[in-house]
Amino acid sequence: MTDLEKANKYQEENRTDKSEKPVFHVTPPTGWMNDPNGFSIFQGKVHLFYQYHPYGDVWGPMHWGHCVSDDFVKWEELPAALAPDTDYDAAGCFSGSAIETEGAHALVYTGVMEKERADKTKETIQQQCLAIGDGFSYHKVTENPVILAEQLPDGFSREDFRDPKVWKENETYYLVAGNKNEKQDGQVVLFASEDLKTWRYLSVLADNRGKYGKMWECPDFFPLGGKHILIVSPQDMQADGAEFHNGNQSAALIGEYDRKNYHLQEEQVVSLDYGTDFYAPQTLETKDGRRIMIAWMQSWDMNIKPAEQKWNGMMTIPRQLQYKNNVLYQQPVKELESYRTEPVVYWDREISGTCRLPGIRGRVLDLTVELLDGDYQEFSIFLAKNERYHTSFRYIRAAQTIEFDRTRCGMVRDVVCQRSMKIKRTEETLKLRFLMDKYSVELFVNDGAQTFTSTFYTPADAEDIEFACDKKAVVNIEKYTVSLDENGREGDQLEKI
Ligand code: FRU
Repeated sequence: MTDLEKANKYQEENRTDKSEKPVFHVTPPTGWMNDPNGFSIFQGKVHLFYQYHPYGDVWGPMHWGHCVSDDFVKWEELPAALAPDTDYDAAGCFSGSAIETEGAHALVYTGVMEKERADKTKETIQQQCLAIGDGFSYHKVTENPVILAEQLPDGFSREDFRDPKVWKENETYYLVAGNKNEKQDGQVVLFASEDLKTWRYLSVLADNRGKYGKMWECPDFFPLGGKHILIVSPQDMQADGAEFHNGNQSAALIGEYDRKNYHLQEEQVVSLDYGTDFYAPQTLETKDGRRIMIAWMQSWDMNIKPAEQKWNGMMTIPRQLQYKNNVLYQQPVKELESYRTEPVVYWDREISGTCRLPGIRGRVLDLTVELLDGDYQEFSIFLAKNERYHTSFRYIRAAQTIEFDRTRCGMVRDVVCQRSMKIKRTEETLKLRFLMDKYSVELFVNDGAQTFTSTFYTPADAEDIEFACDKKAVVNIEKYTVSLDENGREGDQLEKI
């Protein structure tokens, strides 16, 4: 039996029951998951691969797990696509991307290997590799690795050279990968190819200049709203005021692409998320021109989950990105709306003191609260609540901040539980859209001008929602249950992708 067959047999025999999983967020069938990989459209279907270690609930030898969807919301688990089973990827099939070619689905990933130096010490080498498939099974090409670490200019790290993201412009394929320069600072290197097998080095597309963390992981590069956006996930990043609090943080560098010098002239750098659990996002473009991003809804330093849970790791809801008026907006994919049932709406509702509202409860919800008016200074929302547990968001009007607190979500580890987010775009009203699943909340502030993503593994019977206000607030509330049962669905979304 090959290593891949072994992994897939293990997956089949240990598949977690649906009832133990979130309703509409991707998780591994069993074991560990980190970064999204190969997020792409192939033959009309959305494919998502991910860093996968089926055999345990912690990071281990990296495989590529695989699932597929017609609409970004309902996913079917497929057999794993890659296992670390060759000389050049024996230490792991690390992150990468995918692209549809004529009739085939090409995966470009990082092969990690360990080599012995002359003095018997070990050296890690990361190189880029190619696997070709039909949307179900994939084979590694004989030319691998297709980009050798030696192809990098002198002084660039051969040990930190990973996470290729590939795209095509006219007849040429391009690829960006994360790397480190002589000073150990992060940078993104750019390569080009005509056939995905022979690649030439072009440039450093962007570099860190000592500003944004160390190694830059998981780059992605695309045009949006008249600009070019480079997404990177820097390691070891220090907080800067209200920004970049996660240590391993994801950021977007926004600017103009100088195609002559293959260089991004960066004009603005923004945090992609303000919560505790968001990393390594990757995007794709749909046939109708939407740029959709998905991220690992977890963080390297806080792998918190109940000990008895056999799977570890979730993805965010896929989010549509838009760049307008100098703001990078993120909104849940519109396909999610087909799965909303049981609407409950309150218009111009006065809230003072503490209250619950009939119909506003549950753990798998799309809930929008719009603060319209009133003399309040503080307005709080308690989610996943019962007498013992809750997770809260508190809006402090004068300071224009939102304070998150999951201290009482059932946590049994001393991890970060509180985080503040400064609201950047002040509007007449404040619109808070909470997308909740059993173990997570994704908050979209003011139509996604800022987002806040966090996990909580609170027992399922904590399903109350409570509002609290120091004086009087006038609010609109709109709540839907999200259900993937057939009767919760209005028609097929296939055509829209
Ligand atoms: C990011 C990352 C990538 C790497 C992968 C390994 O979370 O460190 O740079 O390819 O995870 O699993």
